Amino acid sequence: MGFPPSFLDDLRTRVSLSQLAGRRTTLTQHGMEFKGLCPFHNEKTPSFTINEEKGFFHCFGCEAHGDIFGFVMQLEGLSFVEAVEQIANECGIAIPAPSADADSQRARRRTLVETNELATKWFETQLRGPDAKPARKYLRARGLDGTTARHFRLGFAPSTGTTLSTHMIKQKVTPLSLLASGLVRQPEDGRKPYDFFRGRIIFPIIDKTRKIIGFGGRTLGNGEPKYINSPETDLFRKGLTLYNLSNAVAARNQSPTLIVAEGYMDVIALHRAGFTRSVAPLGTALTNEQIIQLWRLSPEPLVCFDGDPAGNKAAYRAATRALPLLKPGHSLSFVFLPTGHDPDSLVSENRITELKNLIQSPVTLVDFIWNQLAVQQPVDTPERQAAFKQNLRKIALTIADRTVQQGYLAEFKKRVDQLFAYKPSFVGKRKPFHKWESPALLRNHSRGRNRSGDPEHRERVLIATLIGHPELIKDVREDLLEIQIRNPKLQTLKASLLDTWQQDPTIDYSRAREELTNKGHGETVALLFDRTGWNQTIIEPSIRPESDAETALLAWRETLAIHREETAHSEP
Ligand code: UTP
Ligand code: MN
Repeated sequence: MGFPPSFLDDLRTRVSLSQLAGRRTTLTQHGMEFKGLCPFHNEKTPSFTINEEKGFFHCFGCEAHGDIFGFVMQLEGLSFVEAVEQIANECGIAIPAPSADADSQRARRRTLVETNELATKWFETQLRGPDAKPARKYLRARGLDGTTARHFRLGFAPSTGTTLSTHMIKQKVTPLSLLASGLVRQPEDGRKPYDFFRGRIIFPIIDKTRKIIGFGGRTLGNGEPKYINSPETDLFRKGLTLYNLSNAVAARNQSPTLIVAEGYMDVIALHRAGFTRSVAPLGTALTNEQIIQLWRLSPEPLVCFDGDPAGNKAAYRAATRALPLLKPGHSLSFVFLPTGHDPDSLVSENRITELKNLIQSPVTLVDFIWNQLAVQQPVDTPERQAAFKQNLRKIALTIADRTVQQGYLAEFKKRVDQLFAYKPSFVGKRKPFHKWESPALLRNHSRGRNRSGDPEHRERVLIATLIGHPELIKDVREDLLEIQIRNPKLQTLKASLLDTWQQDPTIDYSRAREELTNKGHGETVALLFDRTGWNQTIIEPSIRPESDAETALLAWRETLAIHREETAHSEP
């Protein structure tokens, strides 16, 4: 008799040890480690530590050691069952009655693990066999070598209907276990059972403890559906796990950034590009449980979804889902890839520098939310402004943590004040720009003091000027690298521009524009140089490619100075 293991998994996933212990002793956070006075013995200097990644606590003073259950058992002198009940109650999670079924679930899960491991070995062997030539060719064409395939334990499922079943039965796996694993299907009309994965590359899904809990399978060509995943079993629940989680944990010292991509191949491509701490959900939206797991590995995981409307939507969904869960120090950040690209396509086109640049300057959660709401409709009438403010407030109020919530409310208020303080004053009657105007005039006229107060506008000026004058990049490269860009589209554009220039420092405006358009930035660049885009009422003369380089450089430096000053002020 006992609790179903899946329920205990649920608790371990949803309840963090630091949260639990934090209610009983004061903890301070150092990366993924927490430290505090040990609740198990009397001490003056903290020797009680929590490793959130592993879900264990350890006291270097009294040697107390354990997981969430052990913590409550030892601290409150409870039995295991009582500790489980207390934790579940404390966290509002429903408790299934302990039953004999739990024991059989445990046994079933053990069998499933063994079945999956056997199947994985067989799939791996198949990938090396004579029938898998097209599969190997396919993987090679996608830039994958044998080492990478072995690292991810990739395999191949032949297209014939029952080869896996036959092999597994020979290995004494029962037909019932095969059906339970989802690897074999029983047609409803009573015909013979058949292998679920046929003619596909196999991606084993491995949990934190390196157990194989399920599989993904991709067609070799354009067949539909492109990917299929194992059905949910006692062992495999899609919303609770992430692809490549165990490797991401193991690689904690190799790469500082924990990346969440959309798909299997993205994770593998990121690995090839040196980002070994990458994971992906399994074809579904990021769940609360997955977000909580991510935070156990890194305080600020980076969401790097596909550069298409679906990817952006999924990123925004992840953002709004994270808000209620935010804690001081915990957030998400976002990388937006050029239109039509995912991490895999950038890596296979050898655009790794560009990808790295993007990953190094992600958009923060607060900026992403702000931008998303700000572009929904223009905020040019009092009614629209009011609606905009209301939306911002509504979204900030979904944050449960009071400190973080207040931070968001304050930040939004500051930005709103800044945004609405701007009054366009040069509409229509601006006199034409002359080269001989002095810098002071430049400041007062062409960019307009009040216009420079709008950080979004400054970002546009800073980027557009350099697209118009790529020859200036060599002078301002260091500054450009450091500039904080809030608008996700401009942020990716900045990285691409740098990359384009690095590949050819002699590039001029028209070729740069062409190259950026090829890289999927056509729309953004067009907007930058379009009077009607982004509610721009005036276009700075210095932005224009036809202005001379010296004037452009002067204007650029001046804009940067204002941008720095203002951004520094808006930092906490
Ligand atoms: P994508 O369609 O972006 O796949 O789906 P991809 O990773 O770019 O695929 P490649 O590069 O063509 O191989 C992202 C993820 O969504 C799930 C899979 O988990 C995939 O990795 N998915 C996608 C499915 O479950 N089924 C599908 O038919 C397609
Ligand atoms: Mn994709």
